Amino acid sequence: MRPLHGHRVLLGITAGIAAYKAAELARLLVKDGAEVRVVMTRSAVQFIGPMTLQAITGQPVRDALFDPVHESAMGHIELARWAEVILVAPATADFIAQTAAGMAHDLLSTLCLASAAPLLVVAPAMNQAMWRHPATQANVALLRSREVTILGPDHGEQACGDTGPGRMVEPALILAALRDRFAGGRRLAGRRVVLTAGPTREALDPVRFLGNRSSGKMGFALASALVAQGAEVVLIAGPVTLATPVAVERIDVETALQMRDAVFTSLPGAAIFIACAAVADFRPATVAEQKIKKATETLTLELIRNPDILSEVAALADRPFCVGFAAETHDVETYAEAKLMAKGLDMIAANQVGVSQGFEADDNALLVIWNGGRQALARQSKPQIAALLVNLIADQFDAQTAT
Ligand code: CTP
Repeated sequence: MRPLHGHRVLLGITAGIAAYKAAELARLLVKDGAEVRVVMTRSAVQFIGPMTLQAITGQPVRDALFDPVHESAMGHIELARWAEVILVAPATADFIAQTAAGMAHDLLSTLCLASAAPLLVVAPAMNQAMWRHPATQANVALLRSREVTILGPDHGEQACGDTGPGRMVEPALILAALRDRFAGGRRLAGRRVVLTAGPTREALDPVRFLGNRSSGKMGFALASALVAQGAEVVLIAGPVTLATPVAVERIDVETALQMRDAVFTSLPGAAIFIACAAVADFRPATVAEQKIKKATETLTLELIRNPDILSEVAALADRPFCVGFAAETHDVETYAEAKLMAKGLDMIAANQVGVSQGFEADDNALLVIWNGGRQALARQSKPQIAALLVNLIADQFDAQTAT
């Protein structure tokens, strides 16, 4: 069954450049099985045509409080009662102020006041100075204190040329947040997930090692996002300086061989395996027992291949759903597709790495590919992107277990 099947979503659209993204959001909601009714403010109509939303949702779009035609079909109080959730995206500073103050001077603000819908989700979109203004911040704090979920805004370049917080979060993130709320955050309840994260260290001598720049942040964010969906998570971590996420069983390892042992020990009963670690492909053929001295002008190291943990797990007869990562400096899509096939995976999440991208950064962008589909997840914080990726994993895992 589709995740939002039968849920009644009232989508409010207010006047912002990001209003065009509301069409994509409506499409995702309908595709997910939701019944969607759209209410636009009068000014929002300047940014996106109601016909577009009507075509996507198959329902008339309303923009006026006193509209005899629509009121006779479904009065506004009836519409307020119909809504199971009111989702406003994009939400302007003005809409946030009106809602915070409990005003009801157009259809959307009236519906917000008249509705008993327990959940009002708001995705702000505005100029960065307007978002930062103490009045807006106070209004947002007021909404939060009333259990309104505020999604975003994202940080970045704005249509007006400014850079800062105020961009509407991506529709896929809003969809994921709604799914979470309706599923009670339990899409992976009772599922055991084994996850590798961080770098490995391959010793050269008692004080030196070969390593890489992986910080483990993406893997740790995934562990938290998996727990939030009810999964039982075993996190096998290379050497990182991160706190263990709540309710996660953590096994610390140093080398690729130790990581492989920990994975195979933890695997029985696992429904999903996610290989997020940057495992060293090679290790020194010998580890010097004493510190290597600089006795020569050059030094040649002999390296031998490490086992590919992910390929080994994917090759098991009774294997879990396998998700790999591909960090690439170029030709991301081509290499990711090749790795998906070569390793026999169910899904791969690829990202571009380079200076200040990927490994040590606090945000990430991913191209997620599975057999028969793909989705690009725009640059956002690692916890946000982890929540989206876990949703995609749950989608494909559900699809596979249903067949
Ligand atoms: N992986 C693994 N064990 C290894 C190496 C990699 O489990 N010994 C996993 C990683 O956790 C990641 C994926 O495989 O999910 C990365 O694939 P890989 O082909 O190893 O990527 P690169 O190391 O980037 O390979 P290449 O250098 O060929 O691009």
